[in-house]
Amino acid sequence: MLELENVNAYYGESHILRGVSLSVRDGEVVCLLGRNGAGKTTTILTIMGYLKPRAGRIVYKGRDIGALAPYAVARLGFGFVPQERGIFPSLTVREHLTVFARAGDKRRWTLERIFALFPNLKQRERNLGFQLSGGEQQMLSIARALMLNPSLLLLDEPSEGLAPMIVQEIISVLKSVKREGLAILLVEQNLRTALAIADRHHVMNKGEICFTGSSAELEHNEFVLRTYLSV
Ligand SMILES: Nc1ncnc2c1ncn2[C@@H]1O[C@H](COP(=O)(O)OP(=O)(O)OP(=O)(O)O)[C@@H](O)[C@H]1O
Ligand SMILES: [Mg+2]
Repeated sequence: MLELENVNAYYGESHILRGVSLSVRDGEVVCLLGRNGAGKTTTILTIMGYLKPRAGRIVYKGRDIGALAPYAVARLGFGFVPQERGIFPSLTVREHLTVFARAGDKRRWTLERIFALFPNLKQRERNLGFQLSGGEQQMLSIARALMLNPSLLLLDEPSEGLAPMIVQEIISVLKSVKREGLAILLVEQNLRTALAIADRHHVMNKGEICFTGSSAELEHNEFVLRTYLSV
């Protein structure tokens, strides 16, 4: 459903993405792994239209979306959970979930279903963004993206900086979402989290994809683990 073909992207004159090719198929969970500065966020921002690829193509459901503005990309059915979470300090939990909501094609996610999946958010319905813990903010960011009823969910390091118990909760939420058949592109640094959720993996290093394969292939590729992921 999403295919990057030989994508090159720059910040000003600095060449960051160097021929990135990756794909996410229908209903598939794909992980984008790599160390700090590898180019993971840049890849996601390029998909979302915040950066324009200077060469290469980004094809979504058969259409080249490389030239679209971020709002236009989002409307095509992308749910984006940014690395910095994007929670508004002065909006309540409930407002975050209702103000941006969209019915989408299938109208799967409603406030009721979101609160069933995230019972903590239900309890904190009337709290303001700034009153939430890091874990709650992350859950809210994911929940808000689901309320867009996306066809593809993109998450940039949702487990970053969170306690192991919260990371487990995020993993179980993403597994539930996966069971609904939603396609997910997940940026991760933690190999264990990636292996727990994803069907396939792309590993990045210095703006290039240096490995593509299944969980089993990644787990057994000692060279890739050692060289690009410091496992
Ligand atoms: N706004 C910017 N202007 C110029 N260079 C940038 C900008 N943002 C990131 N970079 C550079 O682009 C490269 C890739 O950064 P990116 O944020 O995509 O990495 P990342 O894989 O997401 O890392 P992390 O795991 O730390 O989030 C880095 O060398 C970074 O310094
Ligand atoms: Mg990043």
